[in-house]
Amino acid sequence: MQKKQKKVIAFFISIPVIITLLTMMSQTTAPEDIKHPGQYIYLGYKDPDVNCARCHGKTGKGTWLSDGPDIRDSIKKRGREKVRKYILQGKGEGEDAMPGFADKLTDEEVEQILEYMTYWEKVDSLLQNRTNINRKDETHDAQRR
Ligand code: HEC
Repeated sequence: MQKKQKKVIAFFISIPVIITLLTMMSQTTAPEDIKHPGQYIYLGYKDPDVNCARCHGKTGKGTWLSDGPDIRDSIKKRGREKVRKYILQGKGEGEDAMPGFADKLTDEEVEQILEYMTYWEKVDSLLQNRTNINRKDETHDAQRR
Protein backbone atom coordinates (compact mmCIF):
# COMPACT_ATOMS: atom_id res chain seq x y z
CA MET A 1 0.00 0.00 0.00
CA GLN A 2 1.24 3.48 -0.82
CA LYS A 3 2.00 6.04 1.86
CA LYS A 4 -0.68 8.36 0.55
CA GLN A 5 -3.35 5.62 0.71
CA LYS A 6 -2.38 4.83 4.29
CA LYS A 7 -2.75 8.47 5.24
CA VAL A 8 -6.21 8.65 3.67
CA ILE A 9 -7.32 5.49 5.52
CA ALA A 10 -5.91 6.75 8.83
CA PHE A 11 -7.79 10.00 8.31
CA PHE A 12 -11.12 8.23 7.81
CA ILE A 13 -10.56 5.94 10.79
CA SER A 14 -9.83 8.93 13.02
CA ILE A 15 -13.15 10.64 12.25
CA PRO A 16 -15.43 8.28 14.27
CA VAL A 17 -12.85 8.25 17.09
CA ILE A 18 -12.88 12.05 17.30
CA ILE A 19 -16.68 12.17 17.12
CA THR A 20 -16.97 9.63 19.95
CA LEU A 21 -14.54 11.61 22.10
CA LEU A 22 -16.40 14.87 21.47
CA THR A 23 -19.74 13.27 22.36
CA MET A 24 -18.27 11.91 25.58
CA MET A 25 -16.86 15.32 26.44
CA SER A 26 -20.16 17.11 25.87
CA GLN A 27 -22.20 14.65 27.93
CA THR A 28 -23.65 16.10 31.11
CA THR A 29 -23.09 14.40 34.45
CA ALA A 30 -25.60 13.39 37.12
CA PRO A 31 -27.58 16.28 38.63
CA GLU A 32 -26.28 16.20 42.19
CA ASP A 33 -25.37 19.81 42.81
CA ILE A 34 -28.32 21.39 41.02
CA LYS A 35 -30.01 23.91 43.25
CA HIS A 36 -32.25 25.77 40.85
CA PRO A 37 -35.21 24.30 38.89
CA GLY A 38 -34.28 26.59 35.98
CA GLN A 39 -30.75 25.20 36.00
CA TYR A 40 -32.17 21.67 35.87
CA ILE A 41 -34.08 22.52 32.69
CA TYR A 42 -31.25 24.61 31.25
CA LEU A 43 -28.81 21.70 31.52
CA GLY A 44 -31.21 19.37 29.69
CA TYR A 45 -32.18 17.08 32.56
CA LYS A 46 -35.90 17.72 32.25
CA ASP A 47 -35.92 17.16 28.50
CA PRO A 48 -32.71 16.38 26.59
CA ASP A 49 -34.13 18.31 23.62
CA VAL A 50 -34.18 21.46 25.73
CA ASN A 51 -30.49 21.50 26.47
CA CYS A 52 -29.50 25.17 26.43
CA ALA A 53 -26.06 24.25 27.79
CA ARG A 54 -25.35 22.26 24.65
CA CYS A 55 -25.13 25.51 22.71
CA HIS A 56 -24.57 28.17 25.37
CA GLY A 57 -22.36 26.31 27.81
CA LYS A 58 -23.14 25.35 31.41
CA THR A 59 -22.68 28.91 32.62
CA GLY A 60 -24.12 30.76 29.62
CA LYS A 61 -20.73 31.80 28.40
CA GLY A 62 -20.99 29.93 25.10
CA THR A 63 -18.62 27.12 24.16
CA TRP A 64 -15.84 26.82 21.64
CA LEU A 65 -17.62 23.84 20.08
CA SER A 66 -21.03 25.35 19.42
CA ASP A 67 -22.63 28.36 17.77
CA GLY A 68 -24.52 29.66 20.79
CA PRO A 69 -23.36 33.13 21.90
CA ASP A 70 -22.60 34.31 25.44
CA ILE A 71 -26.05 34.90 26.98
CA ARG A 72 -25.06 35.88 30.51
CA ASP A 73 -26.17 39.49 30.14
CA SER A 74 -28.94 38.95 27.56
CA ILE A 75 -31.74 39.75 30.00
CA LYS A 76 -30.05 42.95 31.09
CA LYS A 77 -29.29 43.97 27.52
CA ARG A 78 -32.52 42.96 25.80
CA GLY A 79 -35.10 42.71 28.54
CA ARG A 80 -36.95 39.72 29.96
CA GLU A 81 -39.80 39.87 27.43
CA LYS A 82 -37.48 39.57 24.42
CA VAL A 83 -35.49 36.73 25.98
CA ARG A 84 -38.75 34.91 26.78
CA LYS A 85 -39.71 35.30 23.12
CA TYR A 86 -36.34 33.89 21.96
CA ILE A 87 -36.79 30.83 24.18
CA LEU A 88 -40.30 30.22 22.87
CA GLN A 89 -39.82 31.11 19.20
CA GLY A 90 -36.06 30.79 18.64
CA LYS A 91 -33.71 33.36 17.19
CA GLY A 92 -31.77 33.88 13.99
CA GLU A 93 -32.02 32.31 10.57
CA GLY A 94 -30.47 29.46 8.63
CA GLU A 95 -28.26 26.68 9.89
CA ASP A 96 -26.90 28.56 12.91
CA ALA A 97 -30.30 29.63 14.20
CA MET A 98 -31.58 28.82 17.66
CA PRO A 99 -34.69 26.60 17.66
CA GLY A 100 -37.82 27.63 19.56
CA PHE A 101 -38.99 25.59 22.55
CA ALA A 102 -42.64 26.67 22.76
CA ASP A 103 -43.89 23.09 22.34
CA LYS A 104 -41.49 21.66 24.92
CA LEU A 105 -41.75 24.09 27.84
CA THR A 106 -44.62 25.29 30.03
CA ASP A 107 -44.92 28.98 30.94
CA GLU A 108 -43.70 28.11 34.42
CA GLU A 109 -40.63 26.35 33.09
CA VAL A 110 -39.72 29.30 30.85
CA GLU A 111 -40.09 31.51 33.91
CA GLN A 112 -37.72 29.23 35.86
CA ILE A 113 -35.10 29.42 33.10
CA LEU A 114 -35.39 33.23 33.11
CA GLU A 115 -34.98 33.21 36.89
CA TYR A 116 -31.86 31.10 36.56
CA MET A 117 -30.44 33.46 33.93
CA THR A 118 -31.06 36.39 36.27
CA TYR A 119 -29.11 34.53 38.93
CA TRP A 120 -26.03 34.62 36.65
CA GLU A 121 -26.35 38.36 36.43
CA LYS A 122 -26.34 38.57 40.20
CA VAL A 123 -23.19 36.49 40.42
CA ASP A 124 -21.59 38.59 37.68
CA SER A 125 -22.46 41.84 39.40
CA LEU A 126 -21.02 40.54 42.67
CA LEU A 127 -17.77 39.76 40.86
CA GLN A 128 -17.95 43.15 39.13
CA ASN A 129 -18.30 44.91 42.50
CA ARG A 130 -15.30 43.07 43.80
CA THR A 131 -13.24 44.17 40.81
CA ASN A 132 -14.37 47.75 41.42
CA ILE A 133 -13.35 47.53 45.05
CA ASN A 134 -9.96 46.21 44.01
CA ARG A 135 -9.64 49.01 41.49
CA LYS A 136 -10.50 51.55 44.18
CA ASP A 137 -7.72 50.10 46.32
CA GLU A 138 -5.31 50.55 43.45
CA THR A 139 -6.23 54.21 42.91
CA HIS A 140 -6.01 54.74 46.63
CA ASP A 141 -2.55 53.22 46.70
CA ALA A 142 -1.53 55.27 43.69
CA GLN A 143 -2.69 58.47 45.38
CA ARG A 144 -0.80 57.64 48.51
CA ARG A 145 2.40 57.15 46.64
C1 HEC B 1 -29.02 24.32 18.95
C2 HEC B 1 -28.31 25.31 19.72
C3 HEC B 1 -29.08 26.15 20.71
C4 HEC B 1 -29.87 25.72 21.76
C5 HEC B 1 -30.23 24.30 22.15
C6 HEC B 1 -30.29 26.92 22.44
N1 HEC B 1 -29.78 28.03 21.83
FE1 HEC B 1 -30.01 29.95 22.41
N2 HEC B 1 -29.07 30.60 20.73
C7 HEC B 1 -28.44 29.78 19.81
C8 HEC B 1 -27.89 30.60 18.75
C9 HEC B 1 -27.12 30.09 17.54
C10 HEC B 1 -28.24 31.94 19.05
C11 HEC B 1 -27.93 33.19 18.20
C12 HEC B 1 -29.05 33.39 17.22
C13 HEC B 1 -28.85 34.63 16.38
O1 HEC B 1 -28.90 35.72 16.93
O2 HEC B 1 -28.65 34.47 15.18
C14 HEC B 1 -28.97 31.90 20.31
C15 HEC B 1 -29.46 33.00 20.96
C16 HEC B 1 -29.97 33.00 22.25
C17 HEC B 1 -30.31 34.16 23.02
C18 HEC B 1 -30.18 35.62 22.56
C19 HEC B 1 -28.79 36.10 22.86
C20 HEC B 1 -28.70 37.58 22.62
O3 HEC B 1 -28.62 38.33 23.60
O4 HEC B 1 -28.74 37.97 21.45
C21 HEC B 1 -30.78 33.73 24.23
C22 HEC B 1 -31.24 34.59 25.38
C23 HEC B 1 -30.74 32.29 24.21
N3 HEC B 1 -30.24 31.88 23.00
C24 HEC B 1 -31.15 31.47 25.26
C25 HEC B 1 -31.32 30.10 25.15
C26 HEC B 1 -31.97 29.28 26.15
C27 HEC B 1 -32.51 29.78 27.48
C28 HEC B 1 -31.99 28.01 25.66
C29 HEC B 1 -32.60 26.78 26.28
C30 HEC B 1 -34.02 26.84 26.54
C31 HEC B 1 -31.32 28.03 24.37
N4 HEC B 1 -30.93 29.31 24.10
C32 HEC B 1 -31.09 26.92 23.58
C33 HEC B 1 -28.35 28.40 19.86
C34 HEC B 1 -29.05 27.60 20.75
